[in-house]
Amino acid sequence: MSGRVFVVGSMSADVTTFSQRLPAPGETIHGDRLSLVLGGKGANQAIAAARAGAATALIGCVGDDLFRDLVLDGLRAADVIVDGVRTVPGPTGVAHIRVDRHTGQNDIVIVAGANGALSGQDAERQLRAMGAGSGDVLLLQLEVPVTTSVHAARVAAGLGMIVVLDPAPATELPDELWPALTAVTPNESEAALLTGIPAGQPDAAKRAVRWFADRGVDHPIVTLAERGLVGVWDHQLRTLPAIPAEAVDTTAAGDAFAGALGAALASGDSWADAVLRGSAAGAYAVTVEGASPSLPTAAQVDQVLAGATRA
Ligand code: RIB
Repeated sequence: MSGRVFVVGSMSADVTTFSQRLPAPGETIHGDRLSLVLGGKGANQAIAAARAGAATALIGCVGDDLFRDLVLDGLRAADVIVDGVRTVPGPTGVAHIRVDRHTGQNDIVIVAGANGALSGQDAERQLRAMGAGSGDVLLLQLEVPVTTSVHAARVAAGLGMIVVLDPAPATELPDELWPALTAVTPNESEAALLTGIPAGQPDAAKRAVRWFADRGVDHPIVTLAERGLVGVWDHQLRTLPAIPAEAVDTTAAGDAFAGALGAALASGDSWADAVLRGSAAGAYAVTVEGASPSLPTAAQVDQVLAGATRA
């Protein structure tokens, strides 16, 4: 029987502008389009895992403002279980995203709102109440308090779960966290901030991977966008080339990777297959505008993989 995916993390309203370029500091420019959709790295990971076919529950906090329904309706529509989402007084988290239509690159300012109210005790209570355990996967990111993610990781490790942290947005993390993680999946800038090793090229990324392995993470994986990824699986340091994709918006590519990886691990796939599916999900996500709208189904990941095999 397949395991489930639990996500402890953020949910937000993503207010996104699309323009031909990003403004310089102090400059005003005309944009082409504005979108308001469900986002937040936790919600995105949960939707990505659910679309990949895993029974998925999100544990987090939403505010009691006008964005509450946007968030909860979006999660329910994607079949994410929201019994572990608590409504707290005050605003829902918001992300202000700007996308450069030429490069597909973005920048993001987040205001935590209700995401800041999620405690480690909330996470522990929900994981235990839902009977999380061996064979289940916990996905974490860093848009909720660091203490919450650390506590959830340690509880989940104690329950025998597979624990995967996407350390985004990167911040200093305590040493006690690393042995609780089965996998950590930073991009190159997050890996550099955490390890002090500029990890932009595969050789340097390998040094960053070893840094995490030395601290007790079984499967460190550093993602390098169009240069692929470097990581440890099957007891070896391995590289995986990127699947070519025409990027229109890179928002949520990391969340797509984490969600698809988690779903594959929960279904019992090998690490090699799970990393490949994560990579294909990330490649798909950059070809569609928006965060949650860009997260692929299992069939869409299959199509990306079929295309990459033919190429
Ligand atoms: O990873 C993408 C997400 O980061 C967006 O949905 C936005 O909410 C920000 O948190």
